[in-house]
Amino acid sequence: MHETSCRRFQGRVALITGAASGIGAATARRLAAEGAAVVAVDIADEAGQHLADAIIRAGGRAEYRHGDVGSAAMWEELAGHVARRYGRLDVLHSNAYAVVVKPAHELDETEWDGQLAVTLKASWLAVRAFAAQLSDSEGALVLTSSVHALVGLPGHPAYAAAKGALCALGRQLAVEYGPRVRVNTVLPGPILTPAWDRVDEAGRADSVAGTVAKRLGTPEEVAAAVAFLASSDASYITGASLVVDGGWSIVKDSA
Ligand SMILES: NC(=O)c1ccc[n+]([C@@H]2O[C@H](COP(=O)([O-])OP(=O)(O)OC[C@H]3O[C@@H](n4cnc5c(N)ncnc54)[C@H](O)[C@@H]3O)[C@@H](O)[C@H]2O)c1
Repeated sequence: MHETSCRRFQGRVALITGAASGIGAATARRLAAEGAAVVAVDIADEAGQHLADAIIRAGGRAEYRHGDVGSAAMWEELAGHVARRYGRLDVLHSNAYAVVVKPAHELDETEWDGQLAVTLKASWLAVRAFAAQLSDSEGALVLTSSVHALVGLPGHPAYAAAKGALCALGRQLAVEYGPRVRVNTVLPGPILTPAWDRVDEAGRADSVAGTVAKRLGTPEEVAAAVAFLASSDASYITGASLVVDGGWSIVKDSA
């Protein structure tokens, strides 16, 4: 669990999707370290349970729940569970994603729909299921978008479309559910998570060279941004898109 003396989420309940790995797991550890009871949702059951067990061993509160974020029925069931078990939800971090790396003309309809369901539709389903609980607690919603919302990279048409849409959706939801619920979006750049297992050394070096920071980011660095946006430290921030990319999206190496 993250070492911190900060307890911004004491007595609060936080739900995180894609929580078994990478940025979601780091956010779960961070919010738990700051006092939140964490509901960690994923489809990777072994890793998800391992995360919840580790948080509990470190003195925090967490439970793992199996859930496919693209399923409307899952969200309805989860909202009932959270209401019964905790009686409130203060933070929702919608973070799971799916990507199929192919040019647009090679994607079939199932691949397009599947990516949009997990990466975009899930955030709408989450709000539909939890709007009342978030409003009751004057809570915060954080959506994980990506620098793909800002720039094009070959092979990611559905992923980029979903990530761009999340920024617009975040602004829309901020207007729709404010002032009681704040909604913000975080845009990670190259962050070293298991998602990078498929990228070889040369690919990683290219990405490192493309940053101002001259390194890949850590999941904990994104988790810190999510925790900030979800906390009362960000009480006057809503509808914002916060880039966490070591300067990757502001560098261009040709005139
Ligand atoms: N790592 C990066 O460089 C990077 C860059 C930009 C944006 N992001 C975004 O950050 C978020 C987290 O990515 P990560 O790098 O931590 O990935 P990761 O692969 O480490 O973790 C993703 C998690 O999502 C879970 N998941 C997948 N489909 C799911 C579903 N249908 N229902 C529930 N859970 C599901 C996986 O099981 C996994 O545990 C994603 O939204 C991703 O697009 C990551």
